[in-house]
Parts: sequence; structure tokens; C-alpha cells
Amino acid sequence: MRQIHLMLVEAGLELVPPQIASHPAVKRNAERRGKKPLETLLDISVHKPAMAKLPKWYKRGRPDIAHGFLLLAQGSILNIEGLLRVHLYTFSGLYIEVDPSLRPPRDYRRFIGLMEQLLKVGRVPPDRPLMKVREEALKSVQRRIRPDVTVLLSEKGQPVKLREFGRIVLQHGTPLIMIGGFQRGDFEEETRSIADLTLSIYPKPLDTLTVTSRVLCSLESELLKW
Ligand SMILES: C[S@@+](CC[C@H](N)C(=O)[O-])C[C@H]1O[C@@H](n2cnc3c(N)ncnc32)[C@H](O)[C@@H]1O
Repeated sequence: MRQIHLMLVEAGLELVPPQIASHPAVKRNAERRGKKPLETLLDISVHKPAMAKLPKWYKRGRPDIAHGFLLLAQGSILNIEGLLRVHLYTFSGLYIEVDPSLRPPRDYRRFIGLMEQLLKVGRVPPDRPLMKVREEALKSVQRRIRPDVTVLLSEKGQPVKLREFGRIVLQHGTPLIMIGGFQRGDFEEETRSIADLTLSIYPKPLDTLTVTSRVLCSLESELLKW
């Protein structure tokens, strides 16, 4: 059966790194939530004063993007029809495998708690895991998925009309489509180098969630003929 792979790449999703664990902004947030600083998720909306010294801070600490992406992708018609596999690859080099039956928490605070548990324990829920995490190079993840084309979405890519996007991608049986899950900045060479095609669906930069929703819609319309 046909499988479309959709991956959020360089996602700004990680636990607070040790370099900033003792910063007052990080400690205050952790104490308020009854957690250890290193067991809390890095979030730029809470930790901005602490993040300035982190390399590429502007690409990190955006779990809200991963939350919205998972809600859109897991709830999509493509997923309901059993045609989609969703993956997350984080800025810090972690691969998160997502089961098609996962229903992400609607509530953002509950999502944060779930991802903290995932990054601490390695799987959630621990008894019957619907998400698993491991350290793995992006190239190796791609090798295991074995796509017959890898498409990177970027405002700097080759322009395509949105209605043609689905047709171009679905000429291939097992496409892997990658969308950036970071706040701003460019893709790393590790990501760019594994793409066969880099496509732009609009002449200006768009939000991750706008791109995700349009891409899903274009694929659904082409595949399901509506
Ligand atoms: C870099 S992130 C920026 C995130 C944004 N600030 C947010 O909060 O969602 C947006 C991602 O969407 C995709 N994207 C943005 N504009 C696009 C465009 N015009 N055509 C195709 N993909 C685009 C790229 O994959 C890019 O990495």
C-alpha cells in the first residue's frame, strides 16, 4: 500500500541543555512546575533571557510548532485513510517515531508534559508506546524509510503551484516530504543534502503550519480526487 512520509525537520524540540540549567528564568519555571530544570522542555516563550548564549538559539525552543504540526498531520484525512506516516527530527539530532494512531493532546500544557516524558524516558506511553525517540543521523533515518523521492519544502526552492505540488510528489510511490520546524534561519547542510527536490509553494516565507496544512490538502486532493 502507498505510504506518504511527512517529517518535521530540525524541530525546535529539546530538553533544557545543561549550559543554561542554572539560569534564573529556567529554575523559576521548573520550580513552578515541580520539575528539575533538565527535565523541562526548552521553550523560547519562557526561556528567552537564558537562551542568548546557546548556539543557533533562534532555531530552538519552539515546541508549539511541533504541537501544531502533530495535530494537523495526525488528524488529517490522509492519516485517517491510512496513507500517512509522520516523523519528527529535532534540531539536536533526535529522531521521533510516531504511531499513526497517536492522538496528540489538544491542550498545549499536556503536550509539553508528554514530550518531557518522551525525552526523559524514551517512549510514551511506556507500556504501549505511540512515540519513541532515539539518537540517529537524518541520513540513516532516510535510509530506513527508503523513499523513492525526498522533497524539501523551502521558500528558496523551485516554485510550484500548490495544486501541482500533489501531482509532482505523487508521481512517486513512497515520497518523503520535509518541512522545517524551527523559528527562523536556514536549513543545515545535513538536511539540504538528502533532498532530491527543493520546492517552494509561495514566493514569500510562510509559517510551518500554513505549509503543513496546504501540503496535506494538495496531497489529499490529488490522491483522493476531491
Ligand atoms: C523556517 S520555518 C519558519 C517557522 C515560522 N516562523 C513559524 O513559526 O512557523 C517554516 C518552514 O516552512 C517551510 N516554508 C516556509 N515558506 C515556504 C514557502 N514559501 N514554500 C515552501 N515551503 C515553505 C519551510 O520548510 C520552512 O522551514
